[in-house]
Amino acid sequence: MSKEKCVLAYSGGMDSTISTVWIQENYNMDVVTLTVDLGSGPEIERVRERSKKAGAIESLVWDVKDEFVNNYIFPGLKAGAVYEDSYALSTALGRPLMAKKLVEAARKVGASAVAHGCTGKGNDQVRFDASVMTLMADSSPLKIIAPAREWGMTRDEEKMYANKAGLELREVGNDQRVYSIDRNIWGQAIEGEDLEDTWSEPPEDAFSWTKSIENTPDKPIEIIIGFEKGIPVSLDNKKVSGKDLIEKLNSLAGEHGVGRIDHTENRLVGIKSREVYETPAAIVLHKSIKALETLTLSRDQQRMKNTISQVYSDMVYDGRWFTELRNNIDAMMNDMHKYTTGEVRVKLHKANCIVTGRRSEYSLYDFDLATYSTDDIFEHSSATGFIDIFSLPGKTQAKNQTFHDSK
Ligand code: ARG
Repeated sequence: MSKEKCVLAYSGGMDSTISTVWIQENYNMDVVTLTVDLGSGPEIERVRERSKKAGAIESLVWDVKDEFVNNYIFPGLKAGAVYEDSYALSTALGRPLMAKKLVEAARKVGASAVAHGCTGKGNDQVRFDASVMTLMADSSPLKIIAPAREWGMTRDEEKMYANKAGLELREVGNDQRVYSIDRNIWGQAIEGEDLEDTWSEPPEDAFSWTKSIENTPDKPIEIIIGFEKGIPVSLDNKKVSGKDLIEKLNSLAGEHGVGRIDHTENRLVGIKSREVYETPAAIVLHKSIKALETLTLSRDQQRMKNTISQVYSDMVYDGRWFTELRNNIDAMMNDMHKYTTGEVRVKLHKANCIVTGRRSEYSLYDFDLATYSTDDIFEHSSATGFIDIFSLPGKTQAKNQTFHDSK
């Protein structure tokens, strides 16, 4: 009888390679690895070879960058999804898509289980498990295996598994720092090593996408980003795909030191953790769309959007992507962005991303109303009647309450 199958989310790194062996031995299952390419760079090339070496019966590599950009990153951008005003949710937006692909792959190869490499301490396990559970609700349940949450291995056991996987375990104690990095096109999250001390400045070797301020060019550059209905569609007046735009902005802004975030973050599992991110494109795009919204949204719309952005950011962070509420908010955001069409000019200089201009054919900024010059058409005399009525409740309350007893 053939063995049951498990589809493992596979990055090609040490832990997921060890997991490939561990699942075969501890669950007596055949392992199919699935590498979901969200734009994590060149390492992706070696994954097939590594997964086969570790005994996987099949190694799937799916490029989902466009789906990630269009169906996850851009809805997040439109919704102002920035967790705790700092983190553009790069990892958090990627997990539900990975979970979706895991379930798809499991159905395709006839697997009875899926697996991921998350530990029991982080947010990612929640995002994976919750997404998988939701997505499989309409058909036969899949078992969820999380080796790193289950194995509790000693260093020697890890070594043994690494050996079996045909890998050398890195020796601890050498002077190279080994960070835990999660990377996709929207940003990279860097944890561990010296970063665990909230007082110590992140060492330069933690960063690979952004230059330190000292090493950035003295001359600023200016770029123009064009939006249509809340989607960034052009760079310097040239049409560009979402994926290409993000890649280009990562390198342009990173070169000028834009994109470093150092944040003490509240994890869903109750821990505060020191998180360092590099998200150059996300910072430029969030800043730009906000600038355009200042022209195209009314004050009430801006206030409402801010409130909902916070709800949305928490939802994404907490792994509640596949929910009706998230769909509801996306629908509202799409409607709010009907007129977010126009251009934003941004200056990148010495780790600063400065908006220097914004314009839109739907702008609510009316020069003739705003100007202090003789072109002014604002009806100054109407202001006094407005203020009388506007201040009426305050006046009444002061008379009948604040000053009541002092009489
Ligand atoms: N703290 C971030 C989040 O919860 C990033 C986690 C990324 N994982 C890592 N191994 N660096 O979304």
